[in-house]
Amino acid sequence: MVCDDHSGSVWVKAALLAILIADTAQAADAVNGAKIIENRALSACLLCHSGPFPAPYLQGNIGPRLDGVGDRLTPDEIRERLLDPSRFDPDTVMPAYGNVEKLNRVGSAWRGRPILTPPQIEDVAAFLSTLHAK
Ligand code: HEC
Repeated sequence: MVCDDHSGSVWVKAALLAILIADTAQAADAVNGAKIIENRALSACLLCHSGPFPAPYLQGNIGPRLDGVGDRLTPDEIRERLLDPSRFDPDTVMPAYGNVEKLNRVGSAWRGRPILTPPQIEDVAAFLSTLHAK
């Protein structure tokens, strides 16, 4: 019983490690991020952007091509853009995917909720971060 305190802290460490591992298991899913971008009804990204996605003739050119965006922007910068692009250009036509404040003419289906959930934003940012110029 001399080592009671010591073994107790080992259990605390083990528990913390288990939490860390569980967190990693919920890490962003880049494959799901690509699916979100390709899903017009959900994200509409391809209305304005093109990139390495199926059906190139259904992709838009209002925004920059997303190919190589992983070289141009860091994961944090990509996330910030998705959450609220007006932080970078107040006149942007790109919707704020994670913001519910200071918006104009929001469709009734989206009032009071972001277009994408925080985990969906993480997945999209994770996918875009994998797009590097060849
Ligand atoms: C209505 C058009 C529109 C939609 C929809 C849209 N964007 Fe954009 N996006 C733009 C425009 C325009 C820009 C150029 C910068 C600006 O005006 O904000 C841009 C910029 C970006 C950038 C920065 C690119 C770079 O190279 O600097 C990223 C990343 C991006 N958009 C991702 C997305 C994703 C992902 C979605 C869907 C979840 C999306 N956009 C939906 C119009 C749009």
